[in-house]
Amino acid sequence: MARLNVEDLVVSYGAVVAVSDISFSVEDGEFVSLLGPSGCGKTTTLRCIAGLESSSGGTIRLGDTMMASDGSDIPPDKRGINMVFQSYAVWPHMSVFENVAYGLRTRREPVADIKRKVGEALKLVGLDGFAQRYGTELSGGQQQRVALARAVVTSPKLLLFDEPLSNLDAGLRDRMRFELVDLQRRLGQTSLYVTHDQSEAMLMSDRIILMKDGRIVQSGTPRDLYERPASRFAAEFIGNANIVDATVIRSVPDRSALVALAGGITVEGHFSRESDIRASGQVIACIRAESITRASESADGVNVFDATVETVGFLGPLITCTLRVGDVRLRAELPARRPPLVGESIKVRIEPDDVIIIAEQ
Ligand SMILES: Nc1ncnc2c1ncn2[C@@H]1O[C@H](COP(=O)(O)OP(=O)(O)OP(=O)(O)O)[C@@H](O)[C@H]1O
Ligand SMILES: [Mg+2]
Repeated sequence: MARLNVEDLVVSYGAVVAVSDISFSVEDGEFVSLLGPSGCGKTTTLRCIAGLESSSGGTIRLGDTMMASDGSDIPPDKRGINMVFQSYAVWPHMSVFENVAYGLRTRREPVADIKRKVGEALKLVGLDGFAQRYGTELSGGQQQRVALARAVVTSPKLLLFDEPLSNLDAGLRDRMRFELVDLQRRLGQTSLYVTHDQSEAMLMSDRIILMKDGRIVQSGTPRDLYERPASRFAAEFIGNANIVDATVIRSVPDRSALVALAGGITVEGHFSRESDIRASGQVIACIRAESITRASESADGVNVFDATVETVGFLGPLITCTLRVGDVRLRAELPARRPPLVGESIKVRIEPDDVIIIAEQ
């Protein structure tokens, strides 16, 4: 078990700076996700930590050991780090047993130990009984489990995952998310997980590091990022948000403020960050689709609005609809039971706590 510490990491490919001076830690036993859009440098960061890529600057430490510093790197097989890839990389010509045993054999562990450890690892991922099957005789989900067993069998200090579930169908991916977290909790292994899927990162992680253009833009617990996005990018990337330009009318010291939305309505909300409290002038308001609720016809008071329903889409337990409030268009998710009709006038309420005001444009 070990703590990962990355400081001022820079990775360049010629003129392309893929990772630009990032610093973060993963505590012992913690599950942290690197989340961000395609091309933001997630895989590059992971490959550097694994030793599959050279860094151009900065340091990578695992426990007390320096893995990389100023171009002097410990080779990948000496790092005590295992990586699970998106392409499962299960060897088709080897049995499941041999796939999982490979790392132990290269370490020349005694045959009896190998048998025991592989047996335990296969049990852990729900594949006991599959030891003699060949890679070609497995489904995608089973191959992914073999890759997991192979990664954990050598008890690495750190587990790295690069979008390991994105090739699976939606149902299996859902199940595997829970299984993977459950496995990680049972093993208590320090883990760094890469994904561009925000719901996956929210569901699985102790902490999320949000990246954009090779930099870290925000990090925190899933709840932190959801409730207190620090930028337009974070608000848009996490969850289902309406982002509306706004002007501060007045702010009060407890972090709340009255803002006028572009489109003519005035809402009460609260600043995402304490440091924004003194912001005046132009800001943005983030209103999540799920925080707009339907109010009774007689409702009035703070943040109650008349809305016209413009579109309605059925999602099962919820409907997604477009509402026009003044000249503002807002996407809302409402219960599917007794849904409003297109063209109907309804009243909606948005709790002031659910209107997040962000000073950065
Ligand atoms: N071998 C390489 N040579 C040159 N540029 C590279 C190389 N590998 C990656 N890049 C560039 O570095 C940047 C970061 O790539 P990276 O693969 O880390 O992104 P990512 O966040 O993992 O994206 P995705 O979600 O699409 O996998 C991209 O702009 C990419 O084009
Ligand atoms: Mg990638």
